[in-house]
Amino acid sequence: MLPAIAATAIERYTQPGDLVADPMCGIGTTLVEAIHLGRGGLGVEFEDRWAQIAAANITHARRGGATGTAEVIRGDARQLPALLPPGMAGRAALVVTSRRTVPACTARSAPSSAKAAAGSRNTTTATATTRPTSPPRPR
Ligand SMILES: C[S@@+](CC[C@H](N)C(=O)[O-])C[C@H]1O[C@@H](n2cnc3c(N)ncnc32)[C@H](O)[C@@H]1O
Repeated sequence: MLPAIAATAIERYTQPGDLVADPMCGIGTTLVEAIHLGRGGLGVEFEDRWAQIAAANITHARRGGATGTAEVIRGDARQLPALLPPGMAGRAALVVTSRRTVPACTARSAPSSAKAAAGSRNTTTATATTRPTSPPRPR
């Protein structure tokens, strides 16, 4: 995801100190933007190599002055309740993610017309559990 998209959603829908979650966090773009904006971040990533890069990116952002803290959990987001540390369930103010849609794996059981329509694209999703509190800052 473009960092600016994550940053805009985080700024608009959360307050400093809130927790932002990305259940398929990849290299951690959402988490890095969250901690640069003084939010907390929680990411889940299935692939060990991306989880390691996400953790390194969080460390790099912290060294660069990001004030929030973030954590990456390696695991399958479909098992989210079992992955979350105690007390973490229900704490996210915002869930923001994107995933790459690959026809060969996502449309295996879909009709061929759906496979053709799906193509290969990026999908961005943001789910706010709070109402917008302020308009986005002009950049
Ligand atoms: C496009 S990348 C991540 C983008 C990231 N959400 C962002 O917005 O910058 C999608 C990631 O989802 C991960 N992923 C796919 N299915 C997953 C699952 N069930 N649980 C955790 N991670 C998953 C993939 O390994 C991949 O790194």
